Amino acid sequence: MSTDQNKFFINENSQISDKVSLDMSNLPEHIAIIMDGNGRWAQKRKLPRTAGHKAGIETIREIIRTCSDLKIKYLTLYAFSTENWQRPEGEISALMQLLVYYLRKEINELHKNNVRIHTIGDISKLPQAVIEEIQSALKLTQHNNGLFVNIALNYGGRDEIVRAVKILCEKVKEGELDVSQIDEKVFEQYLYTKGIPSPDLLIRPSGELRISNFLLWQMAYTEFWFSNIYWPDFTKEHLIQAICDYQKRERRFGGVK
Ligand code: IPE
Ligand code: IPE
Ligand code: MG
Repeated sequence: MSTDQNKFFINENSQISDKVSLDMSNLPEHIAIIMDGNGRWAQKRKLPRTAGHKAGIETIREIIRTCSDLKIKYLTLYAFSTENWQRPEGEISALMQLLVYYLRKEINELHKNNVRIHTIGDISKLPQAVIEEIQSALKLTQHNNGLFVNIALNYGGRDEIVRAVKILCEKVKEGELDVSQIDEKVFEQYLYTKGIPSPDLLIRPSGELRISNFLLWQMAYTEFWFSNIYWPDFTKEHLIQAICDYQKRERRFGGVK
């Protein structure tokens, strides 16, 4: 796709209208997405919630492909939060099965497209079949240098911060680190996102205006983009619109322009 020539047509209500074109010299380096609204998408169609999760997988495929085409460097996808364990057992197991299905089905294509898979969150608590599928995806794609796809699984921002604090406390206790050495740069080394730049753009479809425990530390200066679209209906045109809106923002990071 020759993205700099493409024109996209969408307005705020996600209806086709205004012309949109992207500035290829001002793309976000890191896009984070809360893939939300699968359940409501299904309910609207009188389908079980799991049908929504299944439909959401198609969206993942399209968004990864578009980010790859645009040469975006990092894409973080919120797939399962530390709070999602509160859902009915049947829904959790369907989500886990879908993860395995997705990775098995897509991994060769992702690898061929030079995508590198990474995860954040405590994957040790996931079912064994999921852990194995993730491990083989990580191994297969570890040397790829195209789009870095970071999947947040059993991830919670608060959990991540508490975990980092605990590791640091242990280091201080063992005498490996002095309290005076701890600053933001050091602290970040103990987050799951170590080595990954903070997101420039957060996208949350589904109409909810909150971050639901996603990347709490990392989103200090992220630009937020919300939409009423449910994740299974989210298309590459919405992504392009979000990036286009991002490009109109003035990022000051507390300074003045
Ligand atoms: C997001 O869709 C998927 C996960 C949380 C795993 P939801 O299942 O939260 O869909 P809604 O918000 O109920 O519509
Ligand atoms: C956030 O969505 C988690 C994921 C998309 C994985 P939720 O649907 O769990 O968030 P709340 O409950 O609406 O805040
Ligand atoms: Mg939800």
